[in-house]
Amino acid sequence: MTREQFISQKKDSERRIVRRVVPVGIIYSVRVASAFAGMVLAVLLWRFFPTGARTTILIEFGFCVLLFVGSFPAERDSIFNDLHCSRWNCAMTAPTRIPMSWTPRLAREDDIPALEELIPLSVRTLQAPYYSQGQMEAALGPVFAVDRNLIRDATYFVVEHDGQIVGCGGWSKRRSLYGGDQGRVEQDAELDPERDAARVRAFFVHPAWARCGIGRSIMAACERAIVEARFHRVEIVATLAGEPLYAAFAYTVVERYEIAMAGGLSLPVVRMTKRMELV
Ligand SMILES: CC(C)(COP(=O)(O)OP(=O)(O)OC[C@H]1O[C@@H](n2cnc3c(N)ncnc32)[C@H](O)[C@@H]1OP(=O)(O)O)[C@@H](O)C(=O)NCCC(=O)NCCS
Repeated sequence: MTREQFISQKKDSERRIVRRVVPVGIIYSVRVASAFAGMVLAVLLWRFFPTGARTTILIEFGFCVLLFVGSFPAERDSIFNDLHCSRWNCAMTAPTRIPMSWTPRLAREDDIPALEELIPLSVRTLQAPYYSQGQMEAALGPVFAVDRNLIRDATYFVVEHDGQIVGCGGWSKRRSLYGGDQGRVEQDAELDPERDAARVRAFFVHPAWARCGIGRSIMAACERAIVEARFHRVEIVATLAGEPLYAAFAYTVVERYEIAMAGGLSLPVVRMTKRMELV
């Protein structure tokens, strides 16, 4: 797939989602108007039934019924998307920004069950504008999963809110660019800070807390640690959903490619890099 196809696929899916968000006020107005027009047409129909105007009135009446009935599923969709757009502040549809202050802490082994719940939730919601359901399901496990090596290396962070983990992400001094440790057969070799690029790995934010600065706070913690570990360069294999976060940290796109997955599916990703200033 070319870069242009990538971009148009991404824009298409974003456009589809934005189109689905019809303001509830408009839906209610359509419902009231169609109900009122329907009643007027019913009276006219009764009055002009024996005349030639009957067919026209019947068609208009049917149209009003359709509008009235259709307003109910439209309302349900709109409220659902509204939750994602505004109250849930989901980056999926309307990237509104609510900056807050977060303090990432290092992840522990006993955080793993919570991370295993957070990752699919984040993927299925926040990646939905970019990937098909099949792609997301195929990637959960092989591509998106907990890598215990990062937790053991003390290079993985979580952010908590009211005792619940609402975001995670980290960096790595090991070779793997993505994926959990479960299916890995070989030892994940350590990198050389002089020669190799550190990795930024596995960022997942709870959809209810998207665009609130959690990703930014974890990225800042990772970059501080990467500089302390004396790496000169950082590399990321980013999802299309993650690309804007890394671009905001001045990572540049090196390559766009697809990760092959089970069932003949593939996941479009972006390899990004950044040179670090060591002080
Ligand atoms: C990518 C992800 C981790 C971002 O986390 P986040 O907490 O929502 O990001 P932040 O609120 O810290 O955003 C920081 C900056 O990134 C950019 N950004 C993040 N999400 C964006 C979006 N949907 N659209 C545009 N810019 C976005 C903005 O520049 C933002 O700064 P601003 O809010 O000051 O404008 C989150 O969307 C996510 O979990 N996605 C699903 C999982 C995934 O694909 N992870 C990436 C794996 S490589």
